[in-house]
Amino acid sequence: MLSKPMQEALNKQVQLEAESSQAYLAMASWAEIQPGLDGVTNFFYTQSDEERVHMLKLIRFINERGGFAVVPKLEQPIITFISLKRVFEEFLKHEIGVSESINELVHLSLSEKDYATHNFLQWYVNEQIEEEHLARTLNDKLELVGEDKGGIYLFDRDIMLFRNQGEKKRH
Ligand code: FEO
Repeated sequence: MLSKPMQEALNKQVQLEAESSQAYLAMASWAEIQPGLDGVTNFFYTQSDEERVHMLKLIRFINERGGFAVVPKLEQPIITFISLKRVFEEFLKHEIGVSESINELVHLSLSEKDYATHNFLQWYVNEQIEEEHLARTLNDKLELVGEDKGGIYLFDRDIMLFRNQGEKKRH
């Protein structure tokens, strides 16, 4: 059985994952109306789906442990960006925020001696290592590319490849 504070903290994480899904959906929609960013569009649609899976996993866990998973109300995410670089800076910032939140959850589970939740959260800890690494790698690549259109073309062409390489390492 989940304690009240643990349940509340997990429900906050449900909200954060839902917000991540919405934020990346907005990035996908922005990218889709820019010329030539098919790869980036695909990347963020996929990221958005993945965040929804993260949210669902939490919902199922909370209910399974005798709690009540609350489907949250959401704010509108950022819907427009001044540049591609800005999108990926936001992506990294967002993932760092998620990692911090997961760390706090892990801390709470340990302080409550809730080892079932602690065990469940390890999947998220590992996921965040990969997600942050991917976001940093993509930011580094865009830094190298700068304003070079040929570089942006290649970045867009290869972005799903970078993502899939990370996925393969994970599974
Ligand atoms: Fe589920 Fe990328 O945080």
